Amino acid sequence: MSTLEDKFNELDKRNRESCLGGGKERIEKQHKAGKLTARERIDHLLDSGSFVEIDKMVKHRCTDFGMEKNKISGDGVVSGYGKIDGRLVFVYSQDFTVFGGTLSRANADKMVKVMEMAVKMGAPVIGLNDSGGARIQEGVQSLSGYSDIFHLNVKSSGVVPQISAILGPCAGGAVYSPALTDFIFMTRESSYMFVTGPEVIKTVTHEEVTMEELGGAMTHNSKSGVAHLIGENDENTMMMIRELISFLPSNNMEDPPEKPFTDDIDREDEKLQTLVPADPNKPYDMMEIIESVVDDNNFYEIMPYYAKSMITGYARLAGKPVGIVANQPAFLAGVLDINSSVKAARFVRFCDAFNIPLITLVDVPGFLPGTNQEFGGIIKHGAKLLYAFSDATVPKITLITRKAYGGAYGVMASKHIGADVNLAYPTAEIAVMGPEGAVNIIFRHKISDEDKASAVEDYREAFANPYKAAELGYIDEVIYPRETRKKLIQALEMCQNKSVSGPSRKHGNIPL
Ligand code: HXC
Repeated sequence: MSTLEDKFNELDKRNRESCLGGGKERIEKQHKAGKLTARERIDHLLDSGSFVEIDKMVKHRCTDFGMEKNKISGDGVVSGYGKIDGRLVFVYSQDFTVFGGTLSRANADKMVKVMEMAVKMGAPVIGLNDSGGARIQEGVQSLSGYSDIFHLNVKSSGVVPQISAILGPCAGGAVYSPALTDFIFMTRESSYMFVTGPEVIKTVTHEEVTMEELGGAMTHNSKSGVAHLIGENDENTMMMIRELISFLPSNNMEDPPEKPFTDDIDREDEKLQTLVPADPNKPYDMMEIIESVVDDNNFYEIMPYYAKSMITGYARLAGKPVGIVANQPAFLAGVLDINSSVKAARFVRFCDAFNIPLITLVDVPGFLPGTNQEFGGIIKHGAKLLYAFSDATVPKITLITRKAYGGAYGVMASKHIGADVNLAYPTAEIAVMGPEGAVNIIFRHKISDEDKASAVEDYREAFANPYKAAELGYIDEVIYPRETRKKLIQALEMCQNKSVSGPSRKHGNIPL
């Protein structure tokens, strides 16, 4: 009969085996490729010593291709729960040293278990992806695992925040789980996402493209808009996820976490008085307004490399997290196009699902003209943003700093689509279109070139200001720019117990 000591030794041995994953050689290979192991990543992500692993001894059940002789405890994914800044999160981390981190039926069950627990306990779930995709030896069993995960991603959407980090290859249908989550982080030069890889593309379309060009971190952050942020290396990516979590509630029934703050709520900034130029054609950097007004000038930008005419991100005002959506006049004059509309719409949907108030800063000349945009469906993509703002029931505070022309005025969280407080700077211009365009249409064939200039001036005087809208109550208050911080905080405080409900329905039909 084995002794108690034998029993404990057996447990030690099994724990050690599981922790070693695919073995020292493969761990060295992982490090040489500039990547951390699955466990090291978890150590960087979570508060020190907080990780509780579950299913450490799970093994695959495959008996084809000699797999019954090749079993490793944990089976290629490390899963469990732990804390970020003392708050519960669930995590799974694919272990590339074990069968290339590929998805088996058994390790899919481990992921499903933490995702189900996350929903039950009301905590975010973070997936660290580094995998060769479906485990070929398991065939359809692996595919069933992926599909179960996709289904749970959808069922968890809007219930708990879901975050994906891509830290190695991610190919084929495997990209669709991250794509269904709320945020995708990628590590520079060691992560790839694509549905079909370079070899298949070469065979089918004869295009030659590298892995990096096709699906690297910068491609998905700047071109496709699939990913939201880039980390310089695995450690940096984990730190960025920790910071994002600090702005988010743990689930849709909670308010976002407040932080003690020292930044004066009445702090004024004289620089803002002159930041927006009197000349409407001169650009300025909207980021300066954002950074000036938020607590400790700390702004966490989401999708900084994509559709740069729109800024989206998180900050705190009087310690409370807010989502900021802002046109960027320093890039393409802050125009609304397909990509900027979709970028902002998805951001607004997330904030609304998770009770994060929206601050919208407006300086928009309108929608981008052109056949590319029209053929690309700017109508339906612009409608996504209109839908997202209209449908959002969180507190919505809007500040027009300068241009708010045409349809874009209505779209950018105007009073008419449910904003709670609408503010404007004295430099605001709110009208159907800019003065030159308006005069060209109203006086077409009826006016000489000399008279046109004065007609443009007359129009500018009459319409290119915030006062017509203020007379009608569409703007609640015209404010001095230096007081922006105070005014936004007052508005947020007033809205903090906002409650609205609409008619019952299964769900609306967002123009996808
Ligand atoms: C089983 C796999 C595997 C796979 C890799 N491995 N991919 N085992 N099934 N899909 C194993 C390798 O045999 C190797 O085992 C170890 O993982 C590491 O792989 P390497 O090739 O040595 O590493 P590297 O050179 O870094 O290349 C990584 C890779 C490459 C780019 C991921 O392995 C690769 O192209 N794999 C195939 C990827 C693929 O086509 N997957 C299916 C995608 S479709 P040893 O024992 O030598 O360490 C898909 C469908 C999802 O996923 C559908 C959802 C509905």
